[in-house]
Amino acid sequence: MILRLFAALLTCGFATIAFAQQGVGWKTGPEAAAIERKVDALIGKMTLEEKVGQLHLSGRGEGFDINQVKAGRMGAVMNFVVPQEVRQVQEAVRQSRLKIPLIIGLDAVHGFSTYFPLPLGQAASWNPQLIEQAAYWTGREASAAGINWTFAPMVDMSRDPRWGRVLEGAGEDVHLASVVAAARTSGYQRGGVAASVKHFVGYGAGEAGRDYNSTWIPLSQLHDLHLPPFKAAFQAGAMTAMAAFNALNGMPATAHRGMLTDLLRGKWGFRGFVTSDFGSITELRLHGIAKDDAEAARKALLAGIDMDMMGDVYHKHLANEVKAGRVPVKALDEAVRRVLRVKYHLGLFERGDVDVAAAPSLMQTEEARKVARQAAREGVILLKNDKATLPIAPSVKSVAVIGAMAVPEDERVWTDPAGLGRRLVQPLPDALREQLPADVTVAYEPAFTRNCGTEFKDKEAAVKAAAAADLVVAMLGEDCEFMGEGASRTDLGLPGVQQELLAALVSTGKPVVLVLATGRPLVLTWADKHVAAIVQTFHGGTEGRAAIAEVLAGKVNPAGRVPMSFPRSVGQIPVYYDQLPTGRPQKIRQRYESIFMDEANEALYPFGFGLSYSRFTYANPRVSREKVAMNGAVEIAVEVSNRSERDGQEVAQLYVRQPVAERSRPLRQLKGFEKVFLKAGETKTVTFRLEAGTLGAHDDAGRYRIDPGLVEVYLGGSSLAEAKTRFELTKP
Ligand code: NOJ
Repeated sequence: MILRLFAALLTCGFATIAFAQQGVGWKTGPEAAAIERKVDALIGKMTLEEKVGQLHLSGRGEGFDINQVKAGRMGAVMNFVVPQEVRQVQEAVRQSRLKIPLIIGLDAVHGFSTYFPLPLGQAASWNPQLIEQAAYWTGREASAAGINWTFAPMVDMSRDPRWGRVLEGAGEDVHLASVVAAARTSGYQRGGVAASVKHFVGYGAGEAGRDYNSTWIPLSQLHDLHLPPFKAAFQAGAMTAMAAFNALNGMPATAHRGMLTDLLRGKWGFRGFVTSDFGSITELRLHGIAKDDAEAARKALLAGIDMDMMGDVYHKHLANEVKAGRVPVKALDEAVRRVLRVKYHLGLFERGDVDVAAAPSLMQTEEARKVARQAAREGVILLKNDKATLPIAPSVKSVAVIGAMAVPEDERVWTDPAGLGRRLVQPLPDALREQLPADVTVAYEPAFTRNCGTEFKDKEAAVKAAAAADLVVAMLGEDCEFMGEGASRTDLGLPGVQQELLAALVSTGKPVVLVLATGRPLVLTWADKHVAAIVQTFHGGTEGRAAIAEVLAGKVNPAGRVPMSFPRSVGQIPVYYDQLPTGRPQKIRQRYESIFMDEANEALYPFGFGLSYSRFTYANPRVSREKVAMNGAVEIAVEVSNRSERDGQEVAQLYVRQPVAERSRPLRQLKGFEKVFLKAGETKTVTFRLEAGTLGAHDDAGRYRIDPGLVEVYLGGSSLAEAKTRFELTKP
């Protein structure tokens, strides 16, 4: 058994954890060469049906046929989360002729038993090491339950919060998203599960934010915005990928040979396998490019889809297509080769069955929960804090916590490990009582029947409790019905009757702190005018409410930053910071400028923004050289000071702009960031290294080019960063 057993010491910024674990990833050198020989030998022994079986991914539930596993007609399964059941399918494999192990997959998106913030909330931490650890613990818990493959990370770029799946991504910026994609991929695989980077490609650009809708993406933008996070994940070692549901520029991604084969395998040299999305091969009929499932199967395979997720289409038709000569055996073998290659690199042939008895003790361990707490803390974004309402002042003697969201109904998105782990999730009122001095009373009124706030339970009781308190904490937002897959929205206000409640709370005259748990940036224009403070979270997971309480009470200084611009109204969408300039920029807001007549251009809360209980300033921005060769690099430094009496974390951000180039370039582009801890009164120099090679852009033909000329540099705590310096890009 080839075990890559290693001990790692991780510093999480709050504790040092020692552990030993088994990571997975691509093997290299002679080991990789030996695997190729084993794969060839195995393929040589396989019947046509067994080959097709390797490309068949079926799932737990109705219609699952374990006899297909015994017959060697299934290569992968999904949604088995109970170790005993995983064990059963593993045992069934041993009854098959060739005993080829199964890949066992699951959407372990932001946790398995311990839940971390939604991926968008993790991105809000701007802390890649912490994000890597969240993925690590997700992978480690999942692999302890017998799972060896996660359908994550989702790296789709989106500028459209109407889309319900922005919560699975890392926000609007390609640099941040690429860093996060790499961190999550490494973490999952270090934890023992192969990553499936998804959805290849363009899924986040569905027209009008409607899920599964067509996307139209110019080649320049495809290369500059949508592809880099995939590339980052592959560079971090992602072993598999998942194709997207959508049509990209008129061609369904599931049949897009240009993307799946020419680019991914050809240009990028990806050696792992690609799975379809759930039933997306049979959907090729509905896209109107296949007259029946047989043709859909043929088109998908020939385009480069190796595995059919839950479509049963390869299983039913591929052998016939091969026999009829419509699919060459070579193409089939190539797909099988990719699947087997991943299985060998994952070490599945040597791995024992899941340890059913040990699994529960590996769930929600203290270490995992510590990381979950830290991730939840660092994902909290303070959007507004009028008159220093927060942290809660010593003069506040009574707090009314309002809103059913304050008490967890369910922190899950999809995964259900059926009884593993303790699932202790602290309600916000309890957590606040723990954090605030003993003489502060904390009342709680749910107001609604459920978390999602679609129906009142007792509005009057809530308003009464608010009126009787010194401070109101209203925890509102979106829950699972309003966010996630298939949950596109055209109205981005608070769902249901929550706005009505918020208005009633505000009209009590008591200061209202709005705590949000959402899956996307909502339109908060009203709240921004009327409430005293706004605390944004993207469902913080198992430790979410405990972390919110720490922030409200001042035990933790908020340091999350906006990963995706908050629009002022739906009509502004798409609103994102790295726009191109126009020929009619906004100057004095008059007609014939590029403005809205009835709304500002700017986001309500821009990318990179977030308040702190500390106050940070930037000074003395400087470059290490004024002329930088286009194949060279430059160091850019700035002094960041904490001009307050509280220790705190700041996210120092570096943006660039090239005002004159061959093609129009964005007004600003993030090129670096660093999260720094500064003691009260402390100043630190933050230095970024910028490779000139990253300053180019793609043209209409997808060619990358860098132009010489002036580069303006902005340093600060958001995309509105004001400290400025510059350098000249020169021909080498
Ligand atoms: C469909 C989703 O698009 C995909 O992301 C997910 O992995 C599969 N369902 C499996 O649940």
